[in-house]
Amino acid sequence: MHLILTGATGLVGSAALAHILSLPAGSVSRLSILSRRPVPMAENKPNVTVIEHRDFSQYPTELLEKLKGANGCIWAQGISQNDVSKDEYIKITLDYPLAAAKAFSGLSDSFKFVYVSGEGATTNPGRLTPLFGTVKGQAEEALLKLSKEIPTLKPYSVRPAFVDPHNHTEVLKAVASRANQQTFQRKIIDNGLGPVFRCLYQGMVSPTPDLGRFLTDLAMGDGEPLNGDGVSGEGRTVSNKAFRRIAKVGAKVT
Ligand SMILES: *[C@@H]1O[C@H](CO)[C@@H](O)[C@H](O)[C@H]1NC(C)=O
Ligand SMILES: *[C@@H]1O[C@H](CO)[C@@H](O)[C@H](O)[C@H]1NC(C)=O
Repeated sequence: MHLILTGATGLVGSAALAHILSLPAGSVSRLSILSRRPVPMAENKPNVTVIEHRDFSQYPTELLEKLKGANGCIWAQGISQNDVSKDEYIKITLDYPLAAAKAFSGLSDSFKFVYVSGEGATTNPGRLTPLFGTVKGQAEEALLKLSKEIPTLKPYSVRPAFVDPHNHTEVLKAVASRANQQTFQRKIIDNGLGPVFRCLYQGMVSPTPDLGRFLTDLAMGDGEPLNGDGVSGEGRTVSNKAFRRIAKVGAKVT
């Protein structure tokens, strides 16, 4: 099992990385991390390669050669709409993952592309829909459409809500080493409102240990559609509520 990960130094990506590193030896025989910067958590880990990659709109042949045979990708790269211009936000949130899904779809016969979307994403945006909701919804739809043109591509879009690294030491350590992580959920936690928030709005919280496991399970799984309450997009878009429910029983993994 060979997986690809992006966004490995962020909150969600480091949760996936921490989970993969916790798996029994051999479950993931290779992990290729595409990153612009070093990934301290991945240093000196067996079978983990950090590939320095700068332009996420391009996947040259020599890079794809290194990734050949990969079974799935966790696309956790992302940014807050408040940190960049609108054009830059669309490039990072929509164009990059789409270019990657297209390029990676030929790496194996059934390539799972797990896109980290977000609660609030919608494929029916209205006048009041924030930019991130519209663009992430567009990415979800575009991935679904692409999978009809490329049958080897099995996309999933997961919509976490407030990503909560509470008690998750590896993840806290990974994101502490990065500046500008002043996102809403971190402010809540830092202000000591964490326990109350967690308890009152369980359905809106995404604990990082569960999230890291769920994303990994999908990338390693059989690529089949999911079902049940909170799953949409032909079984390929998973709301936070559905993620919490499925994570409790464990996503099916072949
Ligand atoms: C590394 O890969 C080899 C070959 O696939 C495997 O035997 C070994 O168990 C892997 N080690 C870890 C820690 O996953
Ligand atoms: C976090 O850790 C504390 C202390 O170890 C424990 O009491 C608490 O239940 C944990 N919280 C969660 C959400 O796991």
